[in-house]
Amino acid sequence: MNIFIVGINGKMGRVLCERAPELGVTVSGGLDKVSSPLYPTFTRAADVNVPVDAVIDFSRPETLGEIISLCKKYNCPCVLSTTGYRASDEQQIRKLAEKVAVFKSENMSLGVNALSILAGKAAEILKDFDVEIIERHHNQKADAPSGTAKLLCRSVEKGLAYSPDYVYGREGNCKRKPHEIGVHAIRGGSIVGEHEIAFCGSDEVVTLSHSAGSRKIFADGALKAAKWLTGKKAGLYDMHDMLGL
Ligand SMILES: NC(=O)c1ccc[n+]([C@@H]2O[C@H](COP(=O)([O-])OP(=O)(O)OC[C@H]3O[C@@H](n4cnc5c(N)ncnc54)[C@H](O)[C@@H]3O)[C@@H](O)[C@H]2O)c1
Repeated sequence: MNIFIVGINGKMGRVLCERAPELGVTVSGGLDKVSSPLYPTFTRAADVNVPVDAVIDFSRPETLGEIISLCKKYNCPCVLSTTGYRASDEQQIRKLAEKVAVFKSENMSLGVNALSILAGKAAEILKDFDVEIIERHHNQKADAPSGTAKLLCRSVEKGLAYSPDYVYGREGNCKRKPHEIGVHAIRGGSIVGEHEIAFCGSDEVVTLSHSAGSRKIFADGALKAAKWLTGKKAGLYDMHDMLGL
């Protein structure tokens, strides 16, 4: 199976290239502003001339147009792992999913997807507890809060009996109101990714957390997703579909 990597020379792209042989897939090339020293690298979908069975993307929302062109050119599925998409991007992704199989997840690890289910269940049980979400990432991360924090917010929301108001960080005169969910982003050093959901009640706190030890967990998840997409009909899929959760 030939995989084409968008963002091939980035932190995640390089880990994907390392992990691909172990998962039995071939990297045929990639798209990036900066050329990969190992694989044919292109800056425009129109110029791509290598075999492509599936596209895996770990880049920036700005590459979405090229990804759409590439999937149409090769009539192939894609795995979208980039975070920070705007509402207009999400609309374009849904449109692409009418034509090809699109797999999209803000977090490709098994652990975080298990955590998201646990978070929904905890919210359901701990009805009156205040919920706060804290995420920590390296100092190069472009977007905040992280895509994973947003995914966890959606999971918690499913378990709540009310529609929460999100508060991103706090400063000054900002006493906590009922039905708030506080979301806090910490940036520093080389932290791969840590997420914590605190359910704070009267005299007790329940904390659920996940810590990524390396980028391998995301690369392996994306490579497995690309293989899983083979032969799937057009549509929008996520980790819960693949893991049968
Ligand atoms: N879904 C997940 O599990 C998961 C896990 C880790 C990272 N991510 C996301 O993946 C994305 C990439 O993360 P990273 O740490 O590898 O970032 P990075 O900055 O190290 O790499 C991004 C790469 O994309 C390239 N790029 C950016 N804009 C481009 C453009 N317009 N055209 C061509 N190439 C372009 C850059 O040159 C770079 O090589 C981020 O959005 C991050 O949040 C998702």
